[in-house]
Amino acid sequence: MVNVCLVGCGGVGRRHLEAMIKVKQELNIEVVEPYLKNKIENNNISYFNDIKGVSDNIDICLIATKADIRKKVILDLVHSKNVKFMILEKVVFQNERDFDEIIKLLKSKNIKCWVNCHLRAQPIYKELKKQSMVEHDTYFTYDYSDDFTLSTSAIHILDLFAYLCNDYNLRIIRLKTDETLTKSKHEGCFDFNGNMEVVSTNNHKLSVQKVNRVFGEHLTIQSPSVQVKAGEGTDPDNKVGFVNDKKIPYLYQSSLTNLYIEDIINKSDCDLSTLENSAILHKMMLSTFRDLFSKKYNREVMDCPIT
Ligand SMILES: NC(=O)c1ccc[n+]([C@@H]2O[C@H](COP(=O)([O-])OP(=O)(O)OC[C@H]3O[C@@H](n4cnc5c(N)ncnc54)[C@H](O)[C@@H]3O)[C@@H](O)[C@H]2O)c1
Repeated sequence: MVNVCLVGCGGVGRRHLEAMIKVKQELNIEVVEPYLKNKIENNNISYFNDIKGVSDNIDICLIATKADIRKKVILDLVHSKNVKFMILEKVVFQNERDFDEIIKLLKSKNIKCWVNCHLRAQPIYKELKKQSMVEHDTYFTYDYSDDFTLSTSAIHILDLFAYLCNDYNLRIIRLKTDETLTKSKHEGCFDFNGNMEVVSTNNHKLSVQKVNRVFGEHLTIQSPSVQVKAGEGTDPDNKVGFVNDKKIPYLYQSSLTNLYIEDIINKSDCDLSTLENSAILHKMMLSTFRDLFSKKYNREVMDCPIT
């Protein structure tokens, strides 16, 4: 029996749990959530208020709390349980130092860890990677619609760009945002939208821009030999993916996490970025976002209030 633990069963945690019960192998699923709503009744799932109650040996642990307490949750977990593999939600931490500390700790405990920036695991972007064989000087455009928030989701786009151009050393060279920050649905966090330009060291360019559309993110790739458009359809009730004219399934989180878990069980690996690689992208993004928050608040901000 494989022991799987989910810490935080709110919005996205619930989707991870729905996926866990689809895993082909038999799992013992332990959920830690102090404010549980909508329990899924299943013989393989047990619920706990805190980490103390769960098994001492955890094969795979998924941490789906907000960013501000993620480090504390990891410290509690790693100091009291034996964990083999971990998946962390994005935004992983709100400052760069926490990455260094946690990477060092996980390494010392031999825990392999990934970050749930799921676009690279989506069939559309895997197909796109096969088709586009990105050369030098490719121009990527990522159009986002009204249902998207740049502050919290920029890391998804940076991770996708890194995946498609095989380069984690990205730089945000321009960030033009809304004048005002808005309160996020996540307490203590703030949201902004705007346009962003990013370059890779291997000379690819990405332009991220908000467009006037209700739903669906679209990525266009242009180079002398490749022109591809991919993304989600524009109907939120019937989420489909496409690459040029070809329709490709777009997987909800509730049909993705099971694939990560099966891959980890079968080959000790999965389609997501490792924490080490994701840290490179997060740190670059956090340093840019911190300057923006510091300017808006007119004081030096240490932790970016995003999740
Ligand atoms: N990868 C993605 O596509 C994706 C999608 C949605 C959300 N997220 C990320 O997931 C994180 C959570 O987002 P959400 O919308 O589910 O938030 P949420 O507030 O709905 O859920 C967080 C849950 O954590 C619980 N919690 C708080 N402290 C805890 C503790 N000590 N132990 C266990 N549980 C605890 C809360 O009670 C809450 O239910 C955020 O960082 C968010 O950005 C990622």
